[in-house]
Amino acid sequence: MSTSADVHRSALFTPLTIGPLTLRNRIIKAATNEGSSRDGLPTKNLVRIHEAVAAGGAGMTTVAYCAVNEDGRTLPGQLLLNEACVPHLRVLTETVQAQGAAASAQITHGGCFTFLPPQHSRFPLSSSGGFNKVGILSGMLRKQAMSQADMRQVADDFVRAARLAREAGFNAVELHMGHGYLLSQFISPLYNKRGDDYGRTLENRLRFPAEVLGRVLDAVGKELAVVCKFSITEGVRRGHNAEHGAQIAARLEREGAHMLVLSAGMNVESMPTMFGNTFSKENRVDTGKPLVTAAVFLKSLMEPKVDFRELYLLEHARKVRQAVGLPLAYIGGAKSLAGLEQVLGEGFDAVAMGRVLIAEPDYPNKLQQGLSRDSICTACNRCVVTMYSPGGTSCVLGAPGDAQLNSQYAAG
Ligand SMILES: Cc1cc2nc3c(=O)[nH]c(=O)nc-3n(C[C@H](O)[C@H](O)[C@H](O)COP(=O)(O)O)c2cc1C
Ligand code: SF4
Repeated sequence: MSTSADVHRSALFTPLTIGPLTLRNRIIKAATNEGSSRDGLPTKNLVRIHEAVAAGGAGMTTVAYCAVNEDGRTLPGQLLLNEACVPHLRVLTETVQAQGAAASAQITHGGCFTFLPPQHSRFPLSSSGGFNKVGILSGMLRKQAMSQADMRQVADDFVRAARLAREAGFNAVELHMGHGYLLSQFISPLYNKRGDDYGRTLENRLRFPAEVLGRVLDAVGKELAVVCKFSITEGVRRGHNAEHGAQIAARLEREGAHMLVLSAGMNVESMPTMFGNTFSKENRVDTGKPLVTAAVFLKSLMEPKVDFRELYLLEHARKVRQAVGLPLAYIGGAKSLAGLEQVLGEGFDAVAMGRVLIAEPDYPNKLQQGLSRDSICTACNRCVVTMYSPGGTSCVLGAPGDAQLNSQYAAG
């Protein structure tokens, strides 16, 4: 059994350089929608959440889902990375950095995965048009194929958002290319049915995401780390598997990404692939629409039960590790010292954690001080539902989020 002195020496607590950024250690708080923005602006609760993670010892904390434009939001009130946001986000980045951690902004566009009617197009945008299965939940049953002008506009919006993130003091931006949001709607054969140079082959389907990455790197890549999160396996028949994941990683490496975060699964088609287990019945959100609730219930009956296992994505992630040389952050069910050390021992450069750092924001400090080895997080996934609560995302094992702080703008 290792002692606290061994833990102290662990590779986990050595610095990691990602592009122009050096982190104090290799533990990253993964983006987990905090449910802590109002009218598109961050609240004091968002600052409190990330302060706790930074004070708890992580090397970097990621602010989830910052939409690059109005139509890129998926939920009402969601954080919109525009000029008005900058002073509020600056409070957050300064607070995080005062605790010795770096701050990353996850910048993204939902494409047809949205519950909000579009302001600037007739139907929600996606790689291809036609029936919008995601829209069954929102009543928006059609989606619109993006023209090249749409693509130029969205790429401009990613660049503007990245520049605003820099102005707000972030150390990194994470381009969300996974889970079924717009950029993954281009990468994925489940969504991309285009017949032009942006469709038909994996190389073509990666063209638009790679262009966005290239433009963001040109705009901010000398000062900020530019990271891509994507789904290495989609966990669905006819979707990508880890062999495709390795090819995607190689393309993003060629484009110059500073690090990749190796997630998996799709919001609509394969949540268990993302979380490593099926959601319990108590965890399903009541939409208030009986037909939708019935559809979600029926879908859940058809889903095979998946039991959680630690490091549930490791065998897929290994295939990516073998294919590329750039820094990689493993994600998926890391929840013990042994697990974290195994991941680094297999050549990954960092470990990103979602649920564990919701349950215990000070888990890194506890590890470093030898006070804990296994996280208290049970992977019950109930925090996912708290995202919609007045106090924002929190762990059911602790106190709920602070609804009062969650009603006040960060810089108020
Ligand atoms: C409450 C909650 C919200 C999440 N929201 C996001 C999100 O906004 N963006 C994202 O990329 N992933 C999101 N995720 C997925 C996590 O980043 C991560 O991929 C997943 O939880 C698996 O990692 P873990 O086993 O360390 O929790 C969310 C996860 C949880 C639990
Ligand atoms: S609610 Fe469950 S899955 Fe979420 S952090 Fe807490 S114990 Fe972990």
